[in-house]
Amino acid sequence: MRIDVVSIFPSFFDVLDVSLLGKARAAGIIDVRVHDLREWTYDRHRTVDDTPYGGGAGMVMKPEPWGEALDAIVADSTVRPTFIFPSPAGEVFTQAKARELATDEHLVFGCGRYEGIDERVFAYAAELGTVRLMSLGDYVLNGGEVASMAMIEAIGRLIPGVVGNPDSLVEESHEDGLLEYPSYTKPSVWRDREVPPILLSGNHGAIATWRHEQQVQRTRERRPDLLGD
Ligand code: ADE
Repeated sequence: MRIDVVSIFPSFFDVLDVSLLGKARAAGIIDVRVHDLREWTYDRHRTVDDTPYGGGAGMVMKPEPWGEALDAIVADSTVRPTFIFPSPAGEVFTQAKARELATDEHLVFGCGRYEGIDERVFAYAAELGTVRLMSLGDYVLNGGEVASMAMIEAIGRLIPGVVGNPDSLVEESHEDGLLEYPSYTKPSVWRDREVPPILLSGNHGAIATWRHEQQVQRTRERRPDLLGD
């Protein structure tokens, strides 16, 4: 998979060199290219924002650098990419959407700052590929960088070969619509706290039933919305 990121803070993405995604990059499983939006500015101050038409607080990202950035990325793509613009005004990003996006050949993350990007950029990007505005949740971040990082990690780990043992992707929160069951490791007693005895029983059927009950109970307590309650 190819992933391009456009940001005015490209160093945010230096951490993509570490951990499992770093290994996947080094192995050529994921080709991540990070671009500084200011590459496509030509004034002395490398300006990327301006005041909003109609008035209001804050600044809006100008369309021109974005148009050139998207053109440059599309020019050396072999497919019509999916453009993801992180935004608190977008559709909510979920595990199901991560799975869907993990099958894409080319994703482009456009990180907005300030009050957002001139709306015409989204319409223009829609001529070049598929556009999705995506929100991590109902809260506001300072820009799209942290949200892009979260989405890249969630999507990247679903690409075959990135996570060493694919079984570990199956029994996770959100994969079956429930939160994951609690996990324990050795020692069996730690600071007077015992591991639930069922997990030491060797009875795999009973363990599976217990884990499923735990999933349902946790989901009911913490995330009743997932159960449609
Ligand atoms: N940018 C600012 N807030 C955001 C959020 N909640 N999700 C995605 N992108 C954002």
